[in-house]
Amino acid sequence: MKLRDALAGREVWPPPLWLMRQAGRYLPEYRAVRAKAGDFLSLCLNPELAAEVTLQPIRKFGFDAAILFSDILILPLALGQGLRFAEGEGPRLPPLEDARLLRPGAAPDAYAPVIETVRRVRAALPAEVALIGFAGGPATVACYMLDGQGGGFPRTRRLAYEQPGFVREVVEILTEASLDYLSAQIAAGADCVMLFESWAGIFPPAQFREFVIAPTRRLRAGLAARHPGVRVIGFPRLAGLMLAEFARETGVDAIGLDSVTDLPLARAACPPGTVFQGNLDPLALRLGGAALEEAAARLLAQARGHAHILNLGHGITPDVPEAHVARLVELVRQAR
Ligand code: CP3
Repeated sequence: MKLRDALAGREVWPPPLWLMRQAGRYLPEYRAVRAKAGDFLSLCLNPELAAEVTLQPIRKFGFDAAILFSDILILPLALGQGLRFAEGEGPRLPPLEDARLLRPGAAPDAYAPVIETVRRVRAALPAEVALIGFAGGPATVACYMLDGQGGGFPRTRRLAYEQPGFVREVVEILTEASLDYLSAQIAAGADCVMLFESWAGIFPPAQFREFVIAPTRRLRAGLAARHPGVRVIGFPRLAGLMLAEFARETGVDAIGLDSVTDLPLARAACPPGTVFQGNLDPLALRLGGAALEEAAARLLAQARGHAHILNLGHGITPDVPEAHVARLVELVRQAR
């Protein structure tokens, strides 16, 4: 399994390739299943249809890994917080006022359909294709729970100064719930897991240490204790210079790198042998042509000689032509 080898620190060439949000609206067959399911959350909680959309990009492009089709906000939903996806607007939650409103004991039954999706996907996937399970990073999920929507998270930013105990409590509940959730995904057949800490970059260093690094370290250690040898990919998006401390202190096996960080500079700052995943600009993929050819060639040259997992620096956007994805696959497979 190419992904497993790269996660173990071995150079695999051509590098393993998958794309964040590879199951999504840029695919007509996804839009068809999504229309059948009704809304996005119903799709996430329907194991048959969620397994089908997880497999679609594997069949079409032959990626080296499938990522479970779900969302990072399924966990707050399972903990009892309301959640809806307004069409074209993104997620909306009633901003959390009190951590005691959350029901960790009820979560496993509520996310059981997602675990069933993992089981079905693993059974249907070829042995050489890895299945990636995931959860949101506790800080990022707390941002959505406390603010109720994306867009800078002003309430979370303020609460982190004014009521740090409240933020800490929410992050701790999420850390323990994520440990059980990821553990269930691994037990059901996920080959590795990824933590989407997409909004890590909004926290100043002291809060980054408390709300991003410490919970990730706890999650990594907890998963390793329950599943010896399991690999964890961290994605502390926009972490800037805090990236090195994140890599050193959390113990994650690979770092998902956003598109604004220079890969050689990140490599020089992080502990020797750190495995990276990323960091192609999603816009270069959308534009195609010279933008894509040049960005892919540069990234492949920077990845050569290292354990690297080729991916975007953030999710694929719905407006990407499928032909551009096919061209990227070709460029990576032909790499020498
Ligand atoms: O990568 C994959 O293919 C696996 C599935 C996956 C989704 N979301 C599906 C999805 C994963 C791993 C996520 C992670 C996620 N969800 C993150 C972290 C990564 C990131 O993008 O920063 C975040 C912040 C969310 C929360 C979320 N979900 C937002 C803000 C939105 C709306 C934005 C949008 O693209 O419309 C979603 C919806 C969502 N999650 C879609 C998909 C395929 C689109 C839903 C649809 O079909 O309408």
